Amino acid sequence: MSDKTKHSFQTREVHDGVVPDPTTGAILTPIYQTTTYVQESVDQYLDKGYSYSRSGNPTVAALEDKITSLENGIGSACFATGMAATSATMMALLNHGDHCILSDVVYGGTHRLSTQVLSRFGVDFSLVDTSDPANVVQALRPETRLIFTETPANPTLKLTDIAAVSEIASEKQIPHVVDNTFLTPYFQRPLDLGADISLHSTTKFMEGHNISVGGSITANNKDLLESIKFVRNCLGSNMTPMVAFYTLQGCKTLSTRIRAQSENAARIADFLAMHNAVERVCYPGLDSFPQKELATRQASGFGSMLWFEVKGGVEAGKQLMNTLQLWSLAENLGSVESLVTHSVTMTHADMPREERMSVGITDGLVRLSTGLESAEDLISDLKQALDRL
Ligand SMILES: Cc1ncc(COP(=O)(O)O)c(C=O)c1O
Repeated sequence: MSDKTKHSFQTREVHDGVVPDPTTGAILTPIYQTTTYVQESVDQYLDKGYSYSRSGNPTVAALEDKITSLENGIGSACFATGMAATSATMMALLNHGDHCILSDVVYGGTHRLSTQVLSRFGVDFSLVDTSDPANVVQALRPETRLIFTETPANPTLKLTDIAAVSEIASEKQIPHVVDNTFLTPYFQRPLDLGADISLHSTTKFMEGHNISVGGSITANNKDLLESIKFVRNCLGSNMTPMVAFYTLQGCKTLSTRIRAQSENAARIADFLAMHNAVERVCYPGLDSFPQKELATRQASGFGSMLWFEVKGGVEAGKQLMNTLQLWSLAENLGSVESLVTHSVTMTHADMPREERMSVGITDGLVRLSTGLESAEDLISDLKQALDRL
């Protein structure tokens, strides 16, 4: 791996983690499609560090090294999906009888895992508005063992002050895990701000091309990393070498993609803010964004996610989503293809309506994940759909 004090992010995203293949000189780390690794003798593995691909694989390890470099961590673990990363992290860090503080706006799957699965194993979750660090302090209990935040949060884009919450966590010696999926390490590095773990659905921007689902965690200390890897091995939720290969290639263009996608998003947000049929629009780069100061302070870009509501309510919103042509109506985000999502019926369908409404996930919320197409084309598609309302 290159010396991170020496090379810029753009150089590290291309080169780190990958060395020419020692046997052939291939410039790309091969897809090590193997279950197992031959041992020297009964008492001795070959001195390569691998025994069985559920616990480790060279293609996956190359991706882990790259992500570690980008997140400024000490090590990473990759997973079959983002939810596998979240599950293993929570299962590694929480025991029966423990309490976890979770942001009240998180990806629907994280909410579902906490409130419908891990709660059955005796873990108590408090859903807290972590945008105000005082709320985190108030929610602390003697048995609190984990603070898990997502910032910007899916889908409302509510932000948590990572440094402030990390300080609270560190005073109590509780790990702070940040789901960094929306901004990626190019725009936001939670570990630099004091968090203990930065987590991704690599399905999104890291891989970026709608090819594969995957997840990762990067830790700031070895004990945390090893405990999560242990659970990954127990659950059998390691990433496959094929997915690691795709994600390795995706990461090489991460900064270029997310910068261009964010520029598109900023132009689209400006367009929406001016259109008569739009009730309100939310994008961290707009002056109307309530946490603009924090967005500017803790990240170096505003990202490519935004949402809006149209006048005429839910039915008008649905009509709009159905008449878009260039924007695909689909779950997922962060890819080069622009996607529109109705969070209430798609990503957050399992969240009880009252709870959703209380945290601002309204029935009419239209989420946009801006891709790499031309901003003019994306805007003209939105315009034709809005003009019909
Ligand atoms: C912020 C965030 N975290 C985690 C996940 C879960 O990732 P995956 O779908 O790869 O399991 C998602 C998926 O949408 C997400 O948006």
